Amino acid sequence: MVGKILNYGSINIDEFFTVPHICKSGETLSSSSYTMRAGGKGANQSAALAKAGGKIYHAGKIGKDALWVRDYMSEQGIDMSLTKLAEDENNGRALIQVSQETGDNAIMLFPGTNGTYDPKEFDGLLSQFGPGDWIVQQNEISKGGEMMRLAADKGLSVLFNPAPLTRGILDSFPFDKVSVLVVNEHEAEDLCREFGGNVSLSSSTGLEIAGELFNRFKTMQGVVVTLGGEGVVGKFRDQGEIRDFEVPSRKVPVKDTTGAGDTFVGYFLAGLVRSEAKTYFERVHNALEEANLAASIAVQREGSMVSVPTLAEVEEAKKRQ
Ligand code: RIB
Ligand code: NA
Repeated sequence: MVGKILNYGSINIDEFFTVPHICKSGETLSSSSYTMRAGGKGANQSAALAKAGGKIYHAGKIGKDALWVRDYMSEQGIDMSLTKLAEDENNGRALIQVSQETGDNAIMLFPGTNGTYDPKEFDGLLSQFGPGDWIVQQNEISKGGEMMRLAADKGLSVLFNPAPLTRGILDSFPFDKVSVLVVNEHEAEDLCREFGGNVSLSSSTGLEIAGELFNRFKTMQGVVVTLGGEGVVGKFRDQGEIRDFEVPSRKVPVKDTTGAGDTFVGYFLAGLVRSEAKTYFERVHNALEEANLAASIAVQREGSMVSVPTLAEVEEAKKRQ
């Protein structure tokens, strides 16, 4: 039986401004387009999980201003019955500048409801989950570490994407409870720095940095480091054996990188959970490849959640490779 996936994660209203370049200090820029869309790292990952065929339950909090976001998430195939409505708080918001030049973004967050999560409010949440199921978490809500500990103690496997990476994160999350860690190259570097390590992208390969994290947290099954346009690397262990993974990316025209990391996380976990490959390492490899491909589609599209491709689109892209 395929395991269920619980996402205890953020939900944002994303406000997109398309600008010639990311605004500098003191500068006023005119935006060529403005859109308001459903987003948030947690919510985007749930959308990717659903589209990739995962049985995904999103436990979150929304404000009254975000009822349309909840509806939109349901339409993506996410079970939203565990998401609460906060009567007196405004929903979290992200103000996103997207550079027309490079497709890169700069994001300003207003936590709103995302800053008021407390596992106490989600009493009984874990009663319908157990061994064989997964919890996926990001670092965009309050007290996420507490829920991670409770879930791991109930036997759920934990996928942690500590984004956005903040100072002191080692104190707020129980990294020894994480089964699989997924970070981008900058987060990987910052995380190494958090525990006093001294590796940097200029002097180490992505795989070396992944190894640094993997060796640091000996209880982890695997560490994945995404390298933007360069692809993805990972290190996983299974029954005493350790294996390296390197999946290159094909070059694509980048329009808007927002949501690509989330697409990767969702597709990777869904792939890992539903894969029918014989060995664990084969499952990891296939999931990494599929997630990498899905993310390369997301960067070619505007927006965050709306840019997550369907499984059919990913399958189609596979054939063209
Ligand atoms: O990862 C992309 C997301 O980050 C956006 O949807 C925005 O809400 C920010 O949280
Ligand atoms: Na995008």
